[in-house]
Formats: sequence, structure tokens, C-alpha cells
Amino acid sequence: MDILGLHLSPRRMGNSAVMLEEFLRGAREAGAAAQSFSVADHNIKACQGCGACEKTGHCVIKDDDMRDLYPLLATAPMIVVSTSIFFYNVPGQGKALIDRSQALWSRRYTLKRTETLRPQGLGFLLALGATKGRDLFVPVTLCVKYFFDALGFPRTFESLFYRKIEAPGEMKKQPGHLKEIYEAGLAFGRKRPGAQPTVRI
Ligand SMILES: Cc1cc2nc3c(=O)[nH]c(=O)nc-3n(C[C@H](O)[C@H](O)[C@H](O)COP(=O)(O)O)c2cc1C
Repeated sequence: MDILGLHLSPRRMGNSAVMLEEFLRGAREAGAAAQSFSVADHNIKACQGCGACEKTGHCVIKDDDMRDLYPLLATAPMIVVSTSIFFYNVPGQGKALIDRSQALWSRRYTLKRTETLRPQGLGFLLALGATKGRDLFVPVTLCVKYFFDALGFPRTFESLFYRKIEAPGEMKKQPGHLKEIYEAGLAFGRKRPGAQPTVRI
């Protein structure tokens, strides 16, 4: 797998799901192998803040779908996060996923396991919301920045943001946005490790 797509909204096939699909369609067109994981289809429990992972590097919660996601988070060379905005940040289900990456943060920062670092890792953030406030995407950018950091990725990443997208199905009516997202996915896919450089004739 080259790219892990994380969909952080509880709305199944909602606007951010469409956004992720379109991005991955572009990435696959570029030859990347992409896999997506949506919180809408999985059971993710909230971090209890018990501190056990600071000693072991592993979460004590074993009976939810993070079990399948941890190995992907720890190994994916490229990650795209697609999310809607709920109260200026990622929806609660998505935030639970991010909080559970504390186990990986602990491996990196508390246990100082430097093999967790992935300086070549590439992240991308897609986010949308209903309003048009200037600071609408500030908290999500910070949240995802430190999520990527916990995973050992660089703290810098590309992003696309869309305002005034509210009702389910709204994103599908935005051909300009969809084209931009598809093209960003195509460009991202071309950056995958081992990809042949684009030859310009
Ligand atoms: C609980 C809740 C909180 C929301 N908070 C915000 C917000 O703070 N700012 C905003 O612009 N939109 C907000 N919205 C609107 C959603 O971001 C918008 O409807 C979006 O298109 C949903 O995308 P999705 O289908 O991918 O979840 C909120 C929606 C819900 C249900």
C-alpha cells in the first residue's frame, strides 16, 4: 500500500467521503495503491488517558477497530486525511482516532524509538465546512499537524480547504472542486516512493 486514506466524518458517503474518493481516484490513476479507512464504518473507542502506552508503546484497548488500523498508521508511507469540520475541528469520531495515535506518540517521544520516524512520509489534508469564517481551518490544521508528527511524519503537508459545503451531496455538485481534488490526488500519487518521474517531452 502506498497511500492510506483516512475519512474522519461519521457521515457515510457525505461530503468529505466524496472528497477522499476523488483524491484517491486521482492517486490510483497515477499508479498508487491506495486503501481507505472511514470512521463511519468502524468502531473506535476514545482514549482513556491511562498512560499505559507510555510504558509499552501499545494501547490497552484491544477490542475495537484500531487493532487493524495501528499497523497501517505505523507503516503507510503516505497518508491523506479527509474531514468535515464540526465545531471548528474534526468530528468526535475522527478525533477519537487521532487521540488513539497517542500510542505511536509514546513510542516516538516517551520510549524514544527512533525507528518510528518517517522523514520521507508525505501527508495531505482535505477539509471542508459549511461556513466561510477566516479561521475555519486553523484548528484542524494544527490537530492534523501533530497527528502526523505522532506518526513520525514531517509536520508540513499540503492541504485543500472548501468553505460553504453543508448538505449531504453538496460536494458532488461542485465540478471545479472535484477537478482540483482529483488533480491533487494525481500529483500526490506521482510522489509515491519508487514512482517513475514524469517525463516531459
Ligand atoms: C455537529 C456539527 C458541527 C458542525 N460545526 C461546523 C463548524 O464549526 N463550522 C462549519 O463551517 N461547519 C460546521 N458543520 C457543518 C459541516 O462541516 C458540513 O455540513 C459538512 O459539509 C459535513 O461534511 P460531511 O458530510 O463530510 O460530514 C457542523 C456540522 C455538524 C453536524
